[in-house]
Amino acid sequence: MMLFCLCALSIFLQQSNQVETSLSTQRSHDFPYSYSNSLTYDEVKSLLDQLFDSEIPLVDLQSIWNKIIEIWKQILKKFLRDACELCHENDSYCYESIDLNRYVYYINESFYPINESKRPVGMGIYYYFDLKTLRSVNNSILPTDVSYCDYFHMMQLMINVQTILHQAQIKYFLTKGTLIGVLRHHDVIPWDTDIDLFIPSSATQKILNSFRQVNSTSVKTPIKPSNNTTTTTTTPKSTTIRMSKDRASFHNDLVVYRFKNIHRVTSYKIFSLRSPLVNKTNYRWPKIDIFPYEENKTHIYAYPKHQHNLGTMNYLAKSDLEPIYLRILGPLLVPSPRHLRLSLKAMIKLGRSNLFYACEGNTFLHRYNRGPTETWRVPCKELHRTYPFVQNERNLTTSLCFEELKFPQLNQSLSLYQYRCAEDLRRTL
Ligand SMILES: *[C@@H]1O[C@H](CO)[C@@H](O)[C@H](O)[C@H]1NC(C)=O
Ligand SMILES: *[C@@H]1O[C@H](CO)[C@@H](O)[C@H](O)[C@H]1NC(C)=O
Ligand SMILES: *[C@@H]1O[C@H](CO)[C@@H](O)[C@H](O)[C@H]1NC(C)=O
Ligand SMILES: *[C@@H]1O[C@H](CO)[C@@H](O)[C@H](O)[C@H]1NC(C)=O
Ligand SMILES: *[C@@H]1O[C@H](CO)[C@@H](O)[C@H](O)[C@H]1NC(C)=O
Ligand SMILES: *[C@@H]1O[C@H](CO)[C@@H](O)[C@H](O)[C@H]1NC(C)=O
Ligand SMILES: *[C@@H]1O[C@H](CO)[C@@H](O)[C@H](O)[C@H]1NC(C)=O
Ligand SMILES: *[C@@H]1O[C@H](CO)[C@@H](O)[C@H](O)[C@H]1NC(C)=O
Ligand SMILES: *[C@@H]1O[C@H](CO)[C@@H](O)[C@H](O)[C@H]1NC(C)=O
Ligand SMILES: *[C@@H]1O[C@H](CO)[C@@H](O)[C@H](O)[C@H]1NC(C)=O
Ligand SMILES: *[C@@H]1O[C@H](CO)[C@@H](O)[C@H](O)[C@H]1NC(C)=O
Repeated sequence: MMLFCLCALSIFLQQSNQVETSLSTQRSHDFPYSYSNSLTYDEVKSLLDQLFDSEIPLVDLQSIWNKIIEIWKQILKKFLRDACELCHENDSYCYESIDLNRYVYYINESFYPINESKRPVGMGIYYYFDLKTLRSVNNSILPTDVSYCDYFHMMQLMINVQTILHQAQIKYFLTKGTLIGVLRHHDVIPWDTDIDLFIPSSATQKILNSFRQVNSTSVKTPIKPSNNTTTTTTTPKSTTIRMSKDRASFHNDLVVYRFKNIHRVTSYKIFSLRSPLVNKTNYRWPKIDIFPYEENKTHIYAYPKHQHNLGTMNYLAKSDLEPIYLRILGPLLVPSPRHLRLSLKAMIKLGRSNLFYACEGNTFLHRYNRGPTETWRVPCKELHRTYPFVQNERNLTTSLCFEELKFPQLNQSLSLYQYRCAEDLRRTL
């Protein structure tokens, strides 16, 4: 299984030069988008069922896959249209800040069931993503300081970072809090404020080459906003961030910043120079934190001293990690470890193993670079009436697991996800 994975990856790597040229000529922006997802929830569910039917010939599987990717693309378009209308009124640049065609192209290309060995291990989508409704929930038990427009900027950054990682052929997948998020919410944890990715440490140089580097030795000097932006350096409401209009691509503004935390763990923060500075730091928010991991042939682990932000990171067998497959992160699809629970357990301190049942809020305010004055820890169950939580169902006959997200206030299914669940899973979280 692992061998196939590596092969698949290297073939993908060889092909991607051609990708680059053919894509540059087909950059078309058919904005403003019209949303036309005519399929019902049941129809999407049926497509997913077929996708995992081992009796279905590969050629039919591929056409089902294409349909799902098409639906996904419609959802992304709706997300972008909604967000631009809500957060960047009258700003047509907003639509061009994300190259959806290129993003979808790379995700599809990397996970397309090209042959029998690439039959999907997991797949699903947010059937309907309503930015304002879904991301406006603020609950007095676990409050957030992320508005729906902040959320949009997090996702906008993520889409662009994913695109660049694929373009640069860097292997990446979700880790830490974001992994908890896709497991429990099919999204960033509603009260969390950042996105964490793992890359092999051997890809560090590629990361540094793929984004413009910000000189981190001159920490005391604030980064000058790039010439034509009107980004403020205080902590403004994100809805007031203006995007400059003269750039061909939002990508050009992304920078990488090398960071060493108190555990001496090195990570790389990727953010846009259009975003506001974080209090007393030289980086900006929103940001994506990229953590390099070490590996031998069979395991991955953290270094130095196995320190990881969430605690000591144990060895994690690659067979529990691979094949890396797509998971739902709000309107996005992001490569994730095969066995989410084992991945999390490998990097969570002892005593926090009940993280599947306990929800913790206000652990760190990334946008203010501020430790918590108070941390909240409540049984997740208490939040089920407020926030959407994933429900997991296992079919013993087919060994398939089906996950579904319901938004309590709407009493409506929002996302659906299906995967091969060979491992012994608990039914709920
Ligand atoms: C399936 O496709 C991948 C990627 O093109 C390739 O590396 C692998 O060898 C193929 N496997 C089989 C069984 O054909
Ligand atoms: C996905 O990739 C495959 C293989 O390159 C391609 O044939 C197919 O058209 C793509 N599907 C979509 C929806 O872009
Ligand atoms: C957007 O355009 C409308 C109609 O032209 C106008 O009334 C509104 O003030 C504009 N909003 C902003 C933020 O410029
Ligand atoms: C959520 O509530 C907290 C505490 O009441 C407040 O500080 C924060 O600004 C609110 N966030 C949003 C996005 O409304
Ligand atoms: C970073 O800044 C320091 C001090 O200003 C300087 O010595 C160093 O050469 C700079 N490094 C890069 C890569 O620009
Ligand atoms: C800033 O904008 C001006 C005029 O719009 C343009 O000529 C210049 O190249 C831009 N500078 C940068 C750094 O993008
Ligand atoms: C842009 O940068 C150039 C060179 O650093 C500077 O001369 C110019 O005044 C800047 N333009 C604006 C609009 O800030
Ligand atoms: C990789 O490291 C793990 C943990 O130390 C060890 O059990 C395993 O044998 C190592 N594998 C190889 C191929 O060195
Ligand atoms: C910024 O940092 C200063 C000093 O650490 C602190 O007093 C202030 O409260 C911080 N501001 C915010 C918004 O967190
Ligand atoms: C499990 O899947 C089979 C085949 O799709 C289906 O007939 C059966 O009803 C499912 N069982 C449950 C409990 O959903
Ligand atoms: C939600 O939907 C279910 C089934 O459709 C129904 O039984 C239940 O009463 C609904 N709950 C609310 C609060 O509308």
